[in-house]
Amino acid sequence: MRAQLPGLVLAYDSAGSGKTLLLLHGYPLSRRLWRPQFKHLADAARVIAPDLRGHGDSDAPEGPYSMDQLADDAVALLDSLGLTQPAIVAGLSMGGYVALALYRRYPSRVAGLILAATKAGADSPEAQANRDKSAALAREKGVEAIAEAMLPKMLAPATYAANPGLVAEARAMMAATALNGVVGDLMGMKGRPDSTALLAQISRPVLVIHGQDDQLIPAREAEATYAALPNGRLVLVPNAGHLLNLEQPESFNAEVRTFLQSLDA
Ligand code: MLT
Repeated sequence: MRAQLPGLVLAYDSAGSGKTLLLLHGYPLSRRLWRPQFKHLADAARVIAPDLRGHGDSDAPEGPYSMDQLADDAVALLDSLGLTQPAIVAGLSMGGYVALALYRRYPSRVAGLILAATKAGADSPEAQANRDKSAALAREKGVEAIAEAMLPKMLAPATYAANPGLVAEARAMMAATALNGVVGDLMGMKGRPDSTALLAQISRPVLVIHGQDDQLIPAREAEATYAALPNGRLVLVPNAGHLLNLEQPESFNAEVRTFLQSLDA
């Protein structure tokens, strides 16, 4: 499906009914990341998964894409669908940065947060320099070069060795991202603010869920996030890397389902 927002077309998937579960993918991915969640959570919520600007089938204007901009886009999408009640906002990795920005800007729109494979801190100077190097690589060698460089770290070593279908799926998702999307994300992530202080102010329940074998954002980041939250739950998923929702969909979906039910209680 496609939504015409002011100045931007966003593609999205929608399934189910009831409370809104907004799924925000990471970099440089697309809404296809959430394939296993769509199948299995649509009986528990109205699941909405957009392609963020620059990704999948959405428009790809020139960046940088600040996390605030991506959060504004997501809220504009919910508004365009008439979904103005507080939503459960789930974000994986960069999607988690966007979820935190969405909470900062629109706390009344959030009933709960799911922070998957993400962290609250800003980029270090070294990480910022790496963003510039990645942007240069993408411009010179194309988005495929980014996909090849990131792929071995996207999945747990065990998944990488045992599940070639998933490796191919992740590679195809990354390689399909527009150059503007890759560079726009990199520059937006490079400039994102530190959200560590925000964590203590999040009054809504938060599920922090992370792959134990995440090679891109280590699991200690999830432990630190959890420790700073007033109302958090921490789940470390075994045999899962950065794309834990694809690698261990049953565990991931069960935790999300339990979290959704806990919000009703
Ligand atoms: C992601 O998976 O969204 C990114 O790797 C996050 C990042 O680069 O900080």
